[in-house]
Amino acid sequence: MTTLLKINASLNNGNGQSSQLANQFVAAYRRRQPGAKIVERDVAAAEAVPHLNAERFGSFITKPEERSAAQRAVVAYSDTLINELKQADVIVLGLPMYNFGLPSQLKAYFDHIARVGETFKYTEKGPVGQLTGKKVYVFAARGGVYAGTPLDTQTSYVRDFLRFLGMDDVEFVYAEGLAISPESKEAGLARAAAEIERLVA
Ligand SMILES: Cc1cc2nc3c(=O)[nH]c(=O)nc-3n(C[C@H](O)[C@H](O)[C@H](O)COP(=O)(O)O)c2cc1C
Repeated sequence: MTTLLKINASLNNGNGQSSQLANQFVAAYRRRQPGAKIVERDVAAAEAVPHLNAERFGSFITKPEERSAAQRAVVAYSDTLINELKQADVIVLGLPMYNFGLPSQLKAYFDHIARVGETFKYTEKGPVGQLTGKKVYVFAARGGVYAGTPLDTQTSYVRDFLRFLGMDDVEFVYAEGLAISPESKEAGLARAAAEIERLVA
């Protein structure tokens, strides 16, 4: 059975444009694969992923047998996020652009899933990602229009980060120009919807 992990990162409580595009994709995907198991993770919800501070990172690098109860809880939380990824065949990421970058909660999530020995390892040939064999779909929602220009540092950052963890089969779908005018928003969403239909055809 295919497992699809849908990650929401919008501050709009799952109703943001990136979330809606991700939902559209999941609905279309489900029509194709009715038996697929869908798992949801909202990194920006009320219980958002906390920032990786010294205490939390210290928990990761403390030897398991020396961890305090609080440190074990931090590691267990990170393990939960990582296990969701390990068990997923398909990952659907809603990606809002906030202030030219990704939502800070999504960065916090990334900081909790990048763990040496768990999701990547260092070898003589450099780092090797361990989350391999997955297909990732990213639904990027933006007020302006940046895809394919030097201002879009978000795409290369997310692509590089996912590749670092072993996820190199990544499709981006953009809904851009959402804040420019109602016509531009409509056109941006229509283009993204057409792209979604193409992806699941
Ligand atoms: C705090 C904030 C910052 C934003 N910064 C940008 C930006 O830098 N560039 C841009 O094109 N749009 C920006 N926008 C517009 C969002 O990208 C747009 O509303 C998009 O739909 C957000 O995704 P969401 O609807 O899934 O939350 C910003 C919106 C908010 C709320």
